[in-house]
Amino acid sequence: MSFDYVNGILHADQCNLNELSDTYGTPLYVYSQTLITANWQGFAAHWPAPHKLCYAVKANSNLAVLNLLARLGAGFDIVSGGELARVLAAGGKAKDVVFSGVAKSQEEMAYALEQGIYCFNVESAAELERLNQVANAHGVMAPVSLRVNPDVDAQTHPYISTGLKANKFGIAMQDARAVAKRAMALPNIKLQGLDCHIGSQILTLEPFLDAADIMLNLIHELREEGIKITHLDMGGGMGIPYQQELAPDVSVYLQALLERAENMGNLTMLLEPGRAIVGNAGTLITTVEYLKSGEDKNFVLVDAAMNDLMRPALYQAYHDIIPVRQHDADKAIVDVVGPVCETGDFLGHARHLSAQEGDRLAVMNAGAYGFTMSSNYNTRPRAAEVMVNGGQVQIIRERERLEDLWKGEHLLETPE
Ligand code: LLP
Repeated sequence: MSFDYVNGILHADQCNLNELSDTYGTPLYVYSQTLITANWQGFAAHWPAPHKLCYAVKANSNLAVLNLLARLGAGFDIVSGGELARVLAAGGKAKDVVFSGVAKSQEEMAYALEQGIYCFNVESAAELERLNQVANAHGVMAPVSLRVNPDVDAQTHPYISTGLKANKFGIAMQDARAVAKRAMALPNIKLQGLDCHIGSQILTLEPFLDAADIMLNLIHELREEGIKITHLDMGGGMGIPYQQELAPDVSVYLQALLERAENMGNLTMLLEPGRAIVGNAGTLITTVEYLKSGEDKNFVLVDAAMNDLMRPALYQAYHDIIPVRQHDADKAIVDVVGPVCETGDFLGHARHLSAQEGDRLAVMNAGAYGFTMSSNYNTRPRAAEVMVNGGQVQIIRERERLEDLWKGEHLLETPE
């Protein structure tokens, strides 16, 4: 295990998290290279070439994380021109990139075509037309996979469920055939795949396999009409345990997909895992500023807030909060809350914790959708990030400075 107590102090690999906090300050994101690597290999070991794994950059886009994954042979799933630029800056290859997203701009399309990405995951008929025009202007063919909405219920939080009819994502199943035919007819589109992504933090395999069967059925039908589909991208969505949930077994899922692909002949499978690669590999360390007893509740006020980790405020998401230094003081039921001026600013409600001023707490499983969703609300500089590897530590993002926050802003020039 990468996060463990040694002599009563929580360590990440062999690094003492109290010492890291002294050196780099808090709030501090700490990632374990060992764990990211192991998570990646847990997928890669069951996914032989030509099948592709494209890490979903949005989960954690720090250049060092992307660089580590590029070195491990990862492809990347991006949703913006900015993410493509990050991948390239981190040593990833454009030819291993798939571009998802419902509203790609013309500039983003042009940039991705210039760089030569593997595939655009096209989400609407209108996007297909636009992509054809941009490719035409560049005198190239745009490689395309159509994102189809298989209408399966992933049974996850409504905000992170994406594969239902009611969601904004993908092309409706009933329109898929017509859009595929249109793609075949457009001169600068090369239709090669289909894809879907049904949601995130999914804890059972059934919805994934149902979606796979629906997609495979569609591929079969399209092939019968002479439309050759050579790849199927099943997106991301594998959940991780935040409390005591049982997460689905990666190898069982991957093998079930590969078996299905084999029956289809000449079908390359793609996956876009995000959370399952980095989620449990990161923790957010925060310092207790004050304790406060309200009439009904006890509060532990800490220096990390919703701007550092949005998930509790946005999805009522649960993250374990544990002390960096174990001690015997009496535990109480407390709300762990941050300094931001919103009632929704909490990291955990009703936690059984003993905490004193100056103690450090570790908010666990914060490696995915933690830093990437952070903001500067309340003019709070974003946290520093460090990577540990065995006993080594490297700062991979400096804490923001206040001047960084208003860089590009201007005082009014008009006279009073
Ligand atoms: N592919 C596509 C097209 C996606 O939209 C996503 C995530 C992924 C792959 C990666 O999914 P994963 O394997 O990480 O579940 N902010 C939310 C999660 C939003 C997920 C959005 N799409 C959270 O903090 O739970």
